[in-house]
Amino acid sequence: IRHLLSGADLDAATATLILDTAAEMASVAGREVKKLPALRGRTVVNLFYEDSTRTRISFEAAAKRLSADVINFSVKGSSVSKGESLKDTALTLQAMGADAVVIRHPASGAPHRLANWVDGSVVNAGDGTHEHPTQALLDAYTMRSRLGRLAGLQVAVVGDVLHSRVARSNVLLLSTLGAKVTLVGPPTLIPVDISAALAPGTQVSYDLDAVLPTTDVVMMLRVQRERMDTSYFPSAREYARRYGMDGARLRRLPEHAIVMHPGPMNRGMEIAPEVADSPRSTIVEQVTNGVSVRMAVLYLLLGGKNQ
Ligand code: CP
Repeated sequence: IRHLLSGADLDAATATLILDTAAEMASVAGREVKKLPALRGRTVVNLFYEDSTRTRISFEAAAKRLSADVINFSVKGSSVSKGESLKDTALTLQAMGADAVVIRHPASGAPHRLANWVDGSVVNAGDGTHEHPTQALLDAYTMRSRLGRLAGLQVAVVGDVLHSRVARSNVLLLSTLGAKVTLVGPPTLIPVDISAALAPGTQVSYDLDAVLPTTDVVMMLRVQRERMDTSYFPSAREYARRYGMDGARLRRLPEHAIVMHPGPMNRGMEIAPEVADSPRSTIVEQVTNGVSVRMAVLYLLLGGKNQ
């Protein structure tokens, strides 16, 4: 593939190749081996129109550990404040020799538009409420490394599905890889047609407690207050009571089950601190795995050192 814009871009063979390549990159991502020369002479631009901690830093670390040059473009301090368009910004970056552009943008579909304007590869690092495919890949990698497989896993994706690009990309990718996804949350935060629109086998439940005993992976989603109309914003206490992952709910899961969260977390709302910090939580591991997975994506898109 030339671009990574959506979880739907990946068939099972390509997704598995990325996960297997990420496993090979893990010793470099974990700093046991310092660097690989694979992308020497290539330039990766991080074009972030929205805030990010994990994704931006891990793409930067991934590119550097493959010996690529990295340009970090942040909207603050750029000519975007003077009204420069995404297209003109992209063409400027291309003129500076970008081989890959990693973009995060508040508008759903912005990476797809960018892919029409630049010659290099485009990686979607999160567009509006639409998709975040490398997050889904690192989540799948984490599940596979903790539980040994993806096919047949029961995965509950819990919370603010409506605003979650993480949920959308995970539904697409996990379905491709044979996991069974159940979306769980309040009716106001689960789009009615999401199952049919994304992956027909996806289940929907409004009762978290009913789903827990048969779940292998609980993926908690951040309640995205910044994208919500205040008229249906739930109180933190009420939300936590119905849909928060707390110690009592953790004990209702099968013994082998894991708890995930893409971060950043609202501690005390969708996830209690005792769960976030428990050995069943993979939250820190997901961040580490994100570097390996993003190394694999950049390596496979940019074709290694000889292209
Ligand atoms: N999970 C995730 O996308 O985190 P950031 O917003 O910090 O990049």
